[in-house]
Amino acid sequence: MEESGDVQLLRAWARGHRAAGRRIGFVPTMGFLHEGHLRLVDEARRRADVVVMSIFVNPLQFAPTEDLARYPRDLPRDRALAAARGVDFLFVPDAAVMYPPGSATRVVPGEAASRWEGVVRPGHFTGVLTVVAKLFNLVGPDVACFGRKDIQQAALIRAMVRDLDWPIEVVVVPTVREADGLALSSRNVYLTSDERGQALGLSRALAAADAAWRAGERNASGLEAVVRDALRMYPGVTADYIAVCEPIRMAPAASAAAGTIVALAARVGSTRLIDNIVLGEEHG
Ligand code: PAF
Repeated sequence: MEESGDVQLLRAWARGHRAAGRRIGFVPTMGFLHEGHLRLVDEARRRADVVVMSIFVNPLQFAPTEDLARYPRDLPRDRALAAARGVDFLFVPDAAVMYPPGSATRVVPGEAASRWEGVVRPGHFTGVLTVVAKLFNLVGPDVACFGRKDIQQAALIRAMVRDLDWPIEVVVVPTVREADGLALSSRNVYLTSDERGQALGLSRALAAADAAWRAGERNASGLEAVVRDALRMYPGVTADYIAVCEPIRMAPAASAAAGTIVALAARVGSTRLIDNIVLGEEHG
């Protein structure tokens, strides 16, 4: 595996592979890798000949009140995991490389950013789309893989690729969960063991909504109530929002057909977690 934070090296490497007719797969991450990230690498490898992973904790997508400074980092461990899973190029730029002095242009997200995460985290999706756009321009991937846990992010990236005419296939990969249902997240490391028990409330509440839907509940407010009721068993969980919405514009749904999303963001202690399910699909 090659590794660099140098833009020119990355560009030359990608140019060489493109010239040789190889498809480039791309997995952007903020590091502190877990199995969820590594499944994205597997998917990229299935769809491309070579795989680039980026690790960059993007300051632009964190509000001043958020966890940028304490966001978990472990480059030696990430490097070993990425290499073992078959990443061909690990791009690890510094903030000064991604945002040199004077860098001021931003990608403004569309309507889907005006809801849910976009309300609780103003500016977050501008930061995400700006860094993903820059990374797409540096890597020039044929295919890019994102996790379904960040389902609103994935919808906005799909929309950006479509709206800006990038010839990039965006693949959204199911969420990877612990055996007890907790969605894998780099932020799980913040949880104490009590909080981890409470954090199970997110996946359990979503599973309750899924069971209600399978039993015939199609009313969005009925499903929201199921989630809210299930969360009462987990007093350590404070929901930011419970969304029952369609998957493209993330607009609230009145009734829930197959493919409707039930998404949840909640605080457990000082940790903010998100999770979701797509109704009618296997959990993930
Ligand atoms: O999902 C993430 O880890 C980040 O939002 C991303 C896509 C790498 C952009 O910083």
